[in-house]
Parts: sequence; structure tokens; C-alpha cells
Amino acid sequence: MKGLILSGGKGTRLRPLTFTQAKQLVPVANKPVIFYGIEALVGAGIREVGIIVGDTKNEIREAVGDGRRWGEDVRITYIEQPDPLGLAHAVLIAEDFLGGEPFVMYLGDNILKSGIVSLVEDFRERKPNALILLTPVPDPTIFGVAELEDGRVVRLVEKPKEPRSNLALVGVYMFDRHVFEAVKAIKPSWRNELEITDAIQYLVDHGHQVEPHLVSGWWKDTGKIEDILEANRLILESLSGSVEGVIDKDSRVSGEVVIEQGVSVRSSTIRGPAIIGTGCEIVDSYIGPFTSIQKNCRIVRTEIEHSIVLEGSEIADVGSRIDESLIGREVRIYKCPPKPLAFRFMVGDKSEIGLK
Ligand code: G1P
Repeated sequence: MKGLILSGGKGTRLRPLTFTQAKQLVPVANKPVIFYGIEALVGAGIREVGIIVGDTKNEIREAVGDGRRWGEDVRITYIEQPDPLGLAHAVLIAEDFLGGEPFVMYLGDNILKSGIVSLVEDFRERKPNALILLTPVPDPTIFGVAELEDGRVVRLVEKPKEPRSNLALVGVYMFDRHVFEAVKAIKPSWRNELEITDAIQYLVDHGHQVEPHLVSGWWKDTGKIEDILEANRLILESLSGSVEGVIDKDSRVSGEVVIEQGVSVRSSTIRGPAIIGTGCEIVDSYIGPFTSIQKNCRIVRTEIEHSIVLEGSEIADVGSRIDESLIGREVRIYKCPPKPLAFRFMVGDKSEIGLK
């Protein structure tokens, strides 16, 4: 069995971060989102993984490498998708790599708490032509939605205006070789993409066996800031603390906190779960629960919680608490001189600032 991770797409819902970084590389608990997908596949015994890449191919390649980081026998092959023409199009261009074997398709911005071991076991036991992962969601209109009858999949609609069920297609699917017949037969949708949802509907309509599998445990599609922060919170919830950096005697650390090597914490309070990456300096500050700070940041006289700060950023003298924020790489947030009484911004395109 092989794995196929989709890591193209433009990540428009995560601008401005995605102007300079692939959405699959945005870190959750200081680890790129796509690593969670690779770990899920490797954890289910898959050794050959293809990654579909687009405009951000160099960055993804550099961050992920050849796969050996996940095991001596893990091999990663990169497959280029010149234009983002849809998930089913990605399957089509991976046909040679997949070579007729059953495979797991995993969307590179998805995180599933319980991994995919039970899904793969279910597929091996029942041997359907496709197995789709489903979970109830509050707003099905933003997902692919499946309708079941007597436990069987009868209809799938991509982003329905009037959903007939609340069961969303989670971004993990299993297929055998019949899917190639489907992806070759379907036509592009209104958004000019070959939709995997339509390919699965084709399988249903042509008498192939499509089985549903309900997700146990949480699932997050990290396409938007709220979802990234929520995924960060959920991952940090099961963090086990460890301290390798230096904490001075005027500081207090409580709860599960990871403080990596080369971190210096002075006159500060850190309340976990939180993770502070290597080379950070935390001075006269409060770092609250569910905060991930990547390497080489400086946080000075600032309070922050429920947030993610990417590498090399510096935040100093922020008068009030920073909450639910996603701060990019090498950002500077600092206090202006007392006069004039004004904010001073130098903010990139498509940025977002919330003032109280
Ligand atoms: C894609 C699929 C959709 C699925 C979702 C899960 O949506 O088309 O069916 O529910 O992933 O993350 P997209 O991210 O392309 O909007």
C-alpha cells in the first residue's frame, strides 16, 4: 500500500503567511502541519509516500527531504502538479507512482488525532473499492458532504448550499485502482477543478463499493487561522513537558511546558501547555496556555497566550495581552515613543490587525 499527500494549493485563506510560505509548512506545536500527515501514514505501516507539489515545491522538498527522517526504509517521491486543477487531478497525475496498488490519499493540511491505523485496518479487512472518512460538522456547507442510507454511501456533494447531512468528508481517503477510471471520466466543477467528491460519486454510480468510516477523535483542516490555533490547542493538550533551556530563579514555570535547548527565561511566568523553541529569549513576560513559540524569538515585557509565533520574531512592551494570534516569521511588534499618541504600522498585503 502507498501513500499520497496533497501539498499543492495556494492557501489563500491563510494570507499573508502563505505569500511567503506553503500552508502545509505552517507550524502547529512547532511542527509543520504536513509532518503530522507523514507520521500518520508511516504510523500505519506505509513506506512509499508520494507528495503532490505545486508552486511551493522547493520549500516543501527542503523541509520534508527524502523521508529518511521517519525511518530508514521510508521513501518520499515528489510529483509536480503544474496547476492546482483539483484533488482528483492530483490522483490522475500520480497514476504511474501509485502503479495500481491501493493507496491512502491524505490532504497535507489535515490533522487527525487518532491517526489512520484503524482506517487502514478497516480497508484491509473489508476490501472495498474506496473507503471515505466522515465526521459530523456544525457547518457542512464548507466541505464535501456525504449522504448515507442504511449505512451505505449514496450521494456526495462538494460544498452544498443546502446540505442533506452534516457528515463532512475528512481529507483522508483510501482507494484501489478503480479510482483511475473515475478521475478520467469526470468533468471539472464550477470552480474548474476535478473534484475527488465527484470521482467518488462516479464510483457509487457505477456499482463500486464505497464504504464510510466515521472518525473517532478530533480532526482539523488547518486552512484558516482559527483552525490552526484550534489544532495547536488540541496538540498541546497532550504535550509532556521537558526543560533543556535555562530558567532563572525569578521565573515560574507550571503545567506541561517544553523549553528547548538554548532558551533563556528571565523574570517570567510560563503556564503550560506551551512550547518554546530553541534560541528564544523570554524576559519579564507571561507566556500563557496553548502558546507555541518557534525558535529564535524574543518576547520582552509582553503577555501572550493561545497564540503561535513563528521563528525569529521579536515582541516587546506590548501594553496588553496578546491572545489568539498567529504571528509570522521575523515580525517586530514594539512600543512607539509616547508622542504622538498613535499606532504605527508597516503591514504586508492581506494582513489582519484587531484593535480593542
Ligand atoms: C477539500 C475537499 C472536501 C473536503 C475537505 C476536507 O476541500 O474538496 O471535500 O471536505 O477538503 O479538508 P478544499 O480544502 O479543497 O476546500
